[in-house]
Amino acid sequence: MHRYIERIIRVSRRLLDNYAGLREPEDKIIADSQAFWNNLSNQGRDGGPAHFRGQSIFADDSRWVGLGQNSLRIFYRLAGEDWLAKKPRRILDWGCGGGTCAVHFAPGAACYYGVDITEASLAECNRQVEALGLHNFKPVLFAAPDPERVARLIDKPCDLVLSTYVFELLPSKEYGRRVLRTIHELLADEGLAFIQIKYSTHKLNSMSYRWGYSKNLGNMTTYFIEEFWTMARECGFEPQLLYLEPVQPLNNDHHFAYFLMEKAKSS
Ligand SMILES: C[S@@+](CC[C@H](N)C(=O)[O-])C[C@H]1O[C@@H](n2cnc3c(N)ncnc32)[C@H](O)[C@@H]1O
Repeated sequence: MHRYIERIIRVSRRLLDNYAGLREPEDKIIADSQAFWNNLSNQGRDGGPAHFRGQSIFADDSRWVGLGQNSLRIFYRLAGEDWLAKKPRRILDWGCGGGTCAVHFAPGAACYYGVDITEASLAECNRQVEALGLHNFKPVLFAAPDPERVARLIDKPCDLVLSTYVFELLPSKEYGRRVLRTIHELLADEGLAFIQIKYSTHKLNSMSYRWGYSKNLGNMTTYFIEEFWTMARECGFEPQLLYLEPVQPLNNDHHFAYFLMEKAKSS
């Protein structure tokens, strides 16, 4: 009965959010996101949502390894299998979490920047990369209210910026745009951005939430495909290719879209 009432309250709140514009202020959601990730990944807490190896659903190691392998497979499909191997690349991983991508993309990289809003994720990602015998990991910590700071913390342009399982948990579409602009700034001319988002369909439960960060983070920010494509162009990218993943059984989630985008050469 209690769950039933809770569900009615959630749906009503969702309708008010979507149709009457009842939402929380941007700065509150940003502060809540920082608090959520700080709290979650503190020593001894559950790092599952930050994709820490061995925790929560990733107690099954094949899920953890498989998730990163899947991102690499899609990257290969979009950018070509030889792109990473052509020369040692400077790679930046926005929201690196526990390192599911890092362990697949860092080998052979000239430098692998892990960018995150918590020390715990950066330390865990570093641990996973070092366990491979690599010493190219560079942690970059910033506070959630100031994503633009990342561009000031890195002094050389990157060849590739990737971000997986992060854009949907950013505080808002406007915040996502700030991140995309910063990523654009971080890239070398003709550098690549490989960004995964969660896409909206026309169903209410696929739209962005604008309240209750800790309960709704998995769908905090969703975009229609063409909306993200347009936003990327407005941020200076030339979107190249798109890969859709309607269902992802490794983390029991759905509606992922991967974009490969290029930073146009400055004239
Ligand atoms: C679900 S994990 C994703 C980890 C990894 N990218 C992957 O694909 O497995 C989300 C990570 O994003 C971080 N994060 C949350 N908000 C962020 C933000 N605004 N910018 C960068 N990272 C953020 C969290 O601290 C956490 O480590």
